[in-house]
Amino acid sequence: MKRILVIGAGGQIGTELVPHLQRLYGTDNVISADLKDEQVAKMSQFGIAEKLDATDANAFAEAVKKHKVDAIFNLVALLSATGEKMPQVAWGINMGALLNSLNIAKEFGCAVFTPSSIGAFGTSTPHDGTPQDTIMRPNTIYGCCKVAGELLSDYYFTRFGVDTRSVRFPGIISNGAMPGGGTTDYAVEVFYEIIKEGHHYTCEVPEDSYMDMMYMPDALKAVTDLMEADPSRLRHRNSFNIASMSFTPKILFEAIRKRIPDATFDYNVDPVKAAIADSWPNWMDDSCAREEWGWKPVWDMEAVIDDMLAAVRKKAGIK
Ligand code: SER
Repeated sequence: MKRILVIGAGGQIGTELVPHLQRLYGTDNVISADLKDEQVAKMSQFGIAEKLDATDANAFAEAVKKHKVDAIFNLVALLSATGEKMPQVAWGINMGALLNSLNIAKEFGCAVFTPSSIGAFGTSTPHDGTPQDTIMRPNTIYGCCKVAGELLSDYYFTRFGVDTRSVRFPGIISNGAMPGGGTTDYAVEVFYEIIKEGHHYTCEVPEDSYMDMMYMPDALKAVTDLMEADPSRLRHRNSFNIASMSFTPKILFEAIRKRIPDATFDYNVDPVKAAIADSWPNWMDDSCAREEWGWKPVWDMEAVIDDMLAAVRKKAGIK
């Protein structure tokens, strides 16, 4: 990877992946692209930025040609809860950006990274120790896009030799850009709400829903470690289970209350999010990622809570 294009760069992951890639590969070798003007304006202060609608194949191909790109990181996606509000739009955006990434990669000889997700699984998937290779019949349009995306990406590898690689991300906890429209977002939102006056958070996910979660630094390392992995060791490609911690809202909130004793929590459960959370794994088995490319997370829940509270307090100007 010498010249990297990140599409959907203005979102939760892109906002932190771009600086991570710039540190590893050089500022001038990373091109951030996003649909929104305000994101492009922000990103252009820190490196090369392009306004790009990734569903526009011609514009996308032009950007790849212009910047002599050899790796595409496709972060364009509507997340699970938003997807249920507009399934056709979600399919159009998620699959449109992916299909263009794959076709353009085939034409220009690029590698492709696209995140898959715990959302690729469904109610019939074994929920505890979810295996790498298992039943994948998701109940959401987001999940349908992820499964179709995994299959398409493997197809482009075996049929056309495109170097496609992917991980199934858990909910990502971070303190850069906020996530939006996801079922796991509560595990980020809570930190911003709980430091405000009143120290209260109302959660839309049921208190006993276990879901895999991961801190952003581990997620970023996973992406670049996988993309740099020796291809001869990869028995899988699209997509690897990766895991580091799993908890319920109740477990997380009790651990936060140990640091903020007057914190209070209640629930206003969103039935759509409840059904989604219930259909996803409680925890995934990530042994294939560990064996095939050395995946090894660093952060656990307690360390994440301390770091998140310090970071969001600093952002809010609270000592
Ligand atoms: N964080 C995503 C969501 O909740 C899952 O990949 O939709």
